[in-house]
Amino acid sequence: MTNLRVGVVGMGWGRLQLEAFRRVREFQVVALCDVEHARAQDIAREHKIEHVLADYRDLVARADVDLVSIAAPPDLHKPIAHAAIQAGKHVLVEKPLALNASDAGELLTAAEGAGIVHAVDFEMRFLPALAYGKELIEEEYLGQLLRVDVTMSTERPWGEHGNWAADDARGGGVLMELGSHFIDLLLWWFGAARAALAGRRTHFPTVKTATPSQSLHPTGGGRVTGDDAFWSVLQFERGGEALLNFVTGARRDAGWSICAYGSLGSLIVQSGQLLGRREGDREIARLPIPKRLELGDHPQDPLMWGMAKLFERVADKINRPRDAKPFPDFRAGVAVARVIDALRRASDEREWVEIT
Ligand SMILES: NC(=O)c1ccc[n+]([C@@H]2O[C@H](COP(=O)([O-])OP(=O)(O)OC[C@H]3O[C@@H](n4cnc5c(N)ncnc54)[C@H](O)[C@@H]3O)[C@@H](O)[C@H]2O)c1
Repeated sequence: MTNLRVGVVGMGWGRLQLEAFRRVREFQVVALCDVEHARAQDIAREHKIEHVLADYRDLVARADVDLVSIAAPPDLHKPIAHAAIQAGKHVLVEKPLALNASDAGELLTAAEGAGIVHAVDFEMRFLPALAYGKELIEEEYLGQLLRVDVTMSTERPWGEHGNWAADDARGGGVLMELGSHFIDLLLWWFGAARAALAGRRTHFPTVKTATPSQSLHPTGGGRVTGDDAFWSVLQFERGGEALLNFVTGARRDAGWSICAYGSLGSLIVQSGQLLGRREGDREIARLPIPKRLELGDHPQDPLMWGMAKLFERVADKINRPRDAKPFPDFRAGVAVARVIDALRRASDEREWVEIT
């Protein structure tokens, strides 16, 4: 039964969120907000959504909105989330929760103080291979973690389009935008990290193609200030290290992979599959993933289905808090922000930084 009415702010990724909300029985999106009002109106017509607003303050003030989903650029997460929390709404915020750990912490305090349900859209946790990996790690499949490698390469230079995602001050860059997902996964799989070393790079500092409405430099050209590549080493409190290696603008579009090596076993996630090997196995082999973790029969867009799974848990938490299963909330957003703050400092200062 539908009983939770949603307002979505930001119609980029937020547009895909509409599809995910549609797949969760209890949610109904009733209002959209985007500063590009005409585009939001077109999307609202397509999805039969009644209300379209250009100012998020008008959306959070609506009595017929129970949950506000914030998919605006990261520098706007804090003011919009604060307004929604003050209005007593439940809040889902896109990753990264905020520009730094201090802002993220303020949001956590406000959300807990208001007693609302809060979530961060780290939907990759619900991809079947990653969800099953988490279960196996909890069952000691790996034993003591020795090393985990997370690698990503893409062909398109990250910042070449020159919108907010190329702008360091607005929460752009590969570390914030893509790294945040994988840092959340690592903390979820292996627990807290205590120290970091990192290097952030901008190999392609010039904006190549500019979308006039969103560009930092509508006439084209201009500088990319966010990183388009980074490497880092994270030491976990429980022992073991993660190596992250993200490069864009590479002449290889390999996507991402995670290879975790422990004292008892290895787990590899690549192209949506989970491979494993333990002592006694002749070779590494594909591990069958339990049906209960699958995302429907043939999901065309696994991230959209991952969001739907996360949203289901948010709905459960609002409607049936006692039975609710865990999902990434603002605490996870703060934990990731702390790591990112440390990585940024480690890169600037070229030395190990403690994660506090
Ligand atoms: N979870 C994921 O896998 C995932 C994937 C992509 C993006 N994201 C996140 O979603 C957020 C948005 O990213 P995007 O790629 O959709 O960006 P985008 O630039 O494509 O879309 C952002 C939208 O927000 C609108 N907007 C800007 N200022 C606004 C304001 N003051 N009020 C209302 N709307 C406003 C813009 O007009 C635009 O339509 C970011 O935090 C990003 O990290 C998450």
